[in-house]
Amino acid sequence: MTFSPSWIAVAKTADFESEGATKSFVFRDENGFLFEGFAIRYRGQIHAYLNRCPHIPLSLDYGDGEFFDEQKQWLICRNHGAVFDPSTGQCVAGPCCGASLQRLALQIIGDIVAIEPPRAPELE
Ligand code: FES
Repeated sequence: MTFSPSWIAVAKTADFESEGATKSFVFRDENGFLFEGFAIRYRGQIHAYLNRCPHIPLSLDYGDGEFFDEQKQWLICRNHGAVFDPSTGQCVAGPCCGASLQRLALQIIGDIVAIEPPRAPELE
């Protein structure tokens, strides 16, 4: 099985066997700049987002890979408490209400989870 060169393997499907599982990763854009992303399992689906809050461009977690609330129903920015819908990335409460996390295109091939880094202008 092969990926197009632009796809980057970031996890294995086994990392998402349980609801609320999360996996952080780093990737480089086409210009070689380093970014953080994270993938989650929510209601049986795997979603991936850029780890950058739309309020202020900071990581949502404190580097500890904690993105969900205690009930695993919402994604929380630990900086100022923005609440995001895990299935869409849209902020539903907090200082950036209505804005969205940047979704990363995700592909599952076999037991590999891969993302396609957004093109550089989308990451500014
Ligand atoms: S940086 Fe995320 S809510 Fe302020």
